[in-house]
Amino acid sequence: MLRKGIALAALGLAFVAGPALSAETPHPKHLNWSFDGPLGKFDQAQLQRGYKVYREVCSACHGMKLVYFRTLAEKGGPFYSAEHPNPNDNPYVKALAADIQVPDVDTETGDAIQRPATPADAFLSPYPNEYAARGGNGGALPPDLSVIAKARHGGADYIYSLMTGYAATPPAGLEVPAGQHFNHYMAGDVSGSWKGQGEAPHGGFIAMPPPLAAGKVSFDDGSPSSVQQQAKDVAAFLTWASEPKLTERKQFGLGAMIYLLLFSVLLWFSYRRVWRNVAH
Ligand code: HEC
Repeated sequence: MLRKGIALAALGLAFVAGPALSAETPHPKHLNWSFDGPLGKFDQAQLQRGYKVYREVCSACHGMKLVYFRTLAEKGGPFYSAEHPNPNDNPYVKALAADIQVPDVDTETGDAIQRPATPADAFLSPYPNEYAARGGNGGALPPDLSVIAKARHGGADYIYSLMTGYAATPPAGLEVPAGQHFNHYMAGDVSGSWKGQGEAPHGGFIAMPPPLAAGKVSFDDGSPSSVQQQAKDVAAFLTWASEPKLTERKQFGLGAMIYLLLFSVLLWFSYRRVWRNVAH
């Protein structure tokens, strides 16, 4: 009995102590997003700015193969306009697409060609294949960003924190491997590269160089082009891309709750009426 107890206690301790958690990744910063909460919805101006950041900065390395140009013109999307309910006819999105060249095949000669994109085209990776993508990024693969906001714990908060989490100068005593960058919010454990005093800093190494810089993207609505603003807008855009129907889902949910509430009230009164003259 006693021995069993000791064994159980030791097991419990092992769980509590766990592995040495010297360099735990910090939780992402929590921001207020227009799409938070049961009444949340996307801010169209923010999605437009976020698209610009993606197009002018991130798309140099990352594709979003589940997102099509026409999605931008769908209800709730960055460039939806009530005048053009059919997303394939949205002239603004057509023009945005036509600015981008996509690979295709000449149907008469069979040659590989490049042609301007149409609303029916997806946001392709700039690299023809994974080897080229790794080759261009020191061996690391830039992930497809179509559903990255769902694929990472913290979603928009995480993307914002990662974008703004690069150390201007890495902590003294940290040996940053060649081709890597220290980021406070990247998952990882840098204790193996820590030669400084005390505990290793929280964060991890990432092969992506800091993508944003003040003034890198000029916003058409005059919003200041700080790193924070660009990071926030691109995080909102990536959240929209990973769930374009979020606004509709929330509105439907709220409608369903109101309906159920009214239905319950009605049910209560009919119950009273039905049993009015019965002693029970
Ligand atoms: C110069 C190429 C390049 C550019 C530009 C770039 N990235 Fe990356 N990104 C990478 C690479 C390479 C990785 C993989 C890093 C690794 O695995 O260490 C990556 C990884 C990521 C990740 C995943 C991090 C994780 O948790 O694993 C996110 C999110 C991301 N990038 C977002 C962005 C956004 C948003 C932009 C535009 C503002 C952007 N990137 C611009 C190359 C780039």
